[in-house]
Amino acid sequence: MQLVACSKRQAVENRQLEKQAVKHKQAKNIQVQVRVMSRIVYVNGEYLPQADAKISVFDRGYLFGDGVYEVIPIIRGKLVDEEYGVQRLRRSLAEIEIAWPCSEAEYLQMLRELISRNNVEEGMVYVQVTRGIAERDFSFPKDTKASLMAYPTHKSILQSPLAETGVTVVSTEDLRWKRRDIKSLNLLAQCMAKQQAAKLGAFEAWMTEDGFVTEGASSTAYIVKSGTVITRALSNSILPGIRRRVLVEMAEQGGFKLEQRAFSIEEAKSADEAFLSNASSLVLPIVSVDGHAIGNGQPGPVTRDLRARYIAALLAEAASK
Ligand SMILES: Cc1ncc(COP(=O)(O)O)c(C=O)c1O
Repeated sequence: MQLVACSKRQAVENRQLEKQAVKHKQAKNIQVQVRVMSRIVYVNGEYLPQADAKISVFDRGYLFGDGVYEVIPIIRGKLVDEEYGVQRLRRSLAEIEIAWPCSEAEYLQMLRELISRNNVEEGMVYVQVTRGIAERDFSFPKDTKASLMAYPTHKSILQSPLAETGVTVVSTEDLRWKRRDIKSLNLLAQCMAKQQAAKLGAFEAWMTEDGFVTEGASSTAYIVKSGTVITRALSNSILPGIRRRVLVEMAEQGGFKLEQRAFSIEEAKSADEAFLSNASSLVLPIVSVDGHAIGNGQPGPVTRDLRARYIAALLAEAASK
């Protein structure tokens, strides 16, 4: 009898808990929706609520992936590594012969306006420039105005739990084209690499070619051996990462030893440390490659130090603006 009463009470409690969980989930979804729905997106001269931000199906970005993009971190409400972001976008556009849709000053003003309208303290802004809207024809159309679209994302990037735990990577074949130095919208090979990593429960995929790591699907790849940081030299085989550029400059100013050369997965496995860098993760320790622990399987001191120094530089830059 008591058992029955107990299980009945338990069942009632369970139902209450389930109801609470559903309410909690609904409340959370509403919060997320409110945050996302209220996002303001910039599209070709207009600041629009996300739901109204639309682009033509004849846009060449949609039809051919004919365009380029940038991701710029936001710290304390300010764009950081801003000038390097403009320089790389300028170069990407020039390489595929797309004319800026506005002046560079107007472009930066638009990004600041977007940050302010969306009230972003920390996160990043995604920017995409395509060749614009034209009848579908492979060669570049004449007199087409480039499309410009941008939106910000709120994200805590300075304080990341992943910086404490480290992340894992798996190796995949690099299936990309031969102009990886252009930050092109064509990211299918990277999507496939990331999907393979996700299936294996890893954070990032390190793409390899001819026995060497090129880079991560969305990050620059580094290993550390006997205090020296090793990262692949710039060429058409990799994207010139902005974090990579900052770290190379730090090294050149005497901050630490750096070698710019290719390394294999085998070399990575015997490294003391490994890490990755990009706009949204800054510098993130890697604790295993293909299931093999790197060093003692914990974020290493060189990586921790570089992350701390890069964050200090970003905070100083944000404070100076
Ligand atoms: C293929 C690839 N390599 C490297 C990077 C890192 O570049 P950055 O430091 O400019 O974000 C990215 C960033 O998205 C990337 O997609």
